[in-house]
Amino acid sequence: MSRLVVVSNRVGIPDGNARAGGLEVAIRPALKKRGGIWFGWSGKVADGTPGPAKTVHQDKVDYVTVDLPQDDYDEFYNGFANRVLWPILHYRLDLAEFTRRDLSGYFRVNQFFVENLEKFLRPDDVIWVHDYHLMPLAQMLRERGHKNRLGFFLHIPCPPPEILTGLPNHERVVAGLCSYDLVGFQTENDANNFSRYLANEVGLKRAGDSSFHYEDRSVTVGIFPVGVETEAFSRMAARAVGSQFVNKVMASMSGRALIIGVDRLDYSKGIPERLNAFERFLANFADWRGLVTYLQITPRSRTDIREYADIGRLVGEAVGRINGTFGEASWTPLRYINKAHSRTALAGLYRSARVGLVTPLRDGMNLVAKEYIAAQDADDPGVLVLSRFAGAARECGAALLVNPYDSEGVAIAINRALGMPVEERRMRHQANFAMLVKNDLSQWAERFLGLLDGVSSTDPAAEMLDPPMRRIARQG
Ligand code: F6P
Repeated sequence: MSRLVVVSNRVGIPDGNARAGGLEVAIRPALKKRGGIWFGWSGKVADGTPGPAKTVHQDKVDYVTVDLPQDDYDEFYNGFANRVLWPILHYRLDLAEFTRRDLSGYFRVNQFFVENLEKFLRPDDVIWVHDYHLMPLAQMLRERGHKNRLGFFLHIPCPPPEILTGLPNHERVVAGLCSYDLVGFQTENDANNFSRYLANEVGLKRAGDSSFHYEDRSVTVGIFPVGVETEAFSRMAARAVGSQFVNKVMASMSGRALIIGVDRLDYSKGIPERLNAFERFLANFADWRGLVTYLQITPRSRTDIREYADIGRLVGEAVGRINGTFGEASWTPLRYINKAHSRTALAGLYRSARVGLVTPLRDGMNLVAKEYIAAQDADDPGVLVLSRFAGAARECGAALLVNPYDSEGVAIAINRALGMPVEERRMRHQANFAMLVKNDLSQWAERFLGLLDGVSSTDPAAEMLDPPMRRIARQG
């Protein structure tokens, strides 16, 4: 089996302070199994010129990281990646703040990654690049003569070509993905959007149902919805409800039903819209006043970017307004905290919550939704209220699906979730849980890497074949 080299902006360095989020949960098991390298940014901004890459070795994996100089951090991370690509890929062209300076910072850092990465590469390594920060990496590696199998996975949404083309220089950035052998997406919708972009904007001809000719190679588009470690997370939640932390939180509820929301502070998560919905719920379903507590856990993120400060202010104001309007001396309807919690603590809270509120305006997948389901007690499960615009909605159709822009509709769903009879809760939970087991995280990376193994684009005769046929041709 070839060595696996994972490249992503954040690296889940096993130092107890990992910041790679959902990405880390998804990647670490595959890397530990295969052994290899995880290469990326250290999360540190260098004082002056950054030193050489640093390596930490653990469990068959080398975690190799580089620091970024201040300019690169500003132009690449805060600039093009998070002020341009993040909003556009989340369908928010209106929030994108494009500058040519940030675009050139984006390419400069990708080049810097390539120059550092290639010192560690072997010719037969399989290279798997993750997320929107590093789209041009394959093209740069190819230009330097690397013939490795190269895969890319986009963890966040891919909007339709009508939006993608709103990105100035999309031909250089998005079309750069054609240099990968396999480009993976979370949902069919994302993959279709990208395929339409390749066909209509880049003008590529199809080489099969899911692959396209590109120069003298081919690029395959695949769908790989990220899952969670369903059974393990379920066990973790069952243990965590007995913890001192969860007991203390639940004691402080004084028997009230817990509604929970857990999101990074990000405009894509629809937190102000959700708070409006909760406000509507308290106004329209007054019988629940005093009987529920909504706990919103929202660690701050990307704090140097104006839109993130704006959303923080908006949420703070809404929390004050709701508690001021509906709260009583003996009851605070809404608890809002910015402190990050461990996965174990969250697992215990999910299991204790009657309702999980996951209502992003747009989300690639949303693992909180899946973890909430995995955490429930099958005999007495809570109810997930889930945005139809989260990738997770494709698999978790037995949740109460809502339109996050319709605050009245979300308020009705909260009321329905709280009053739902146990038989219906069990039925919905069973269906969702079975789906999660079927698409467990353990299979995710293997499915991607299995397909990547089969899509060698260097054999010209194979270019006319669909991926399964190509595999057969290679074997035969
Ligand atoms: O959704 C993409 C993602 O990379 C997640 O995996 C992660 O939680 C988040 O973005 C982290 O963002 P940042 O690296 O900007 O803190």
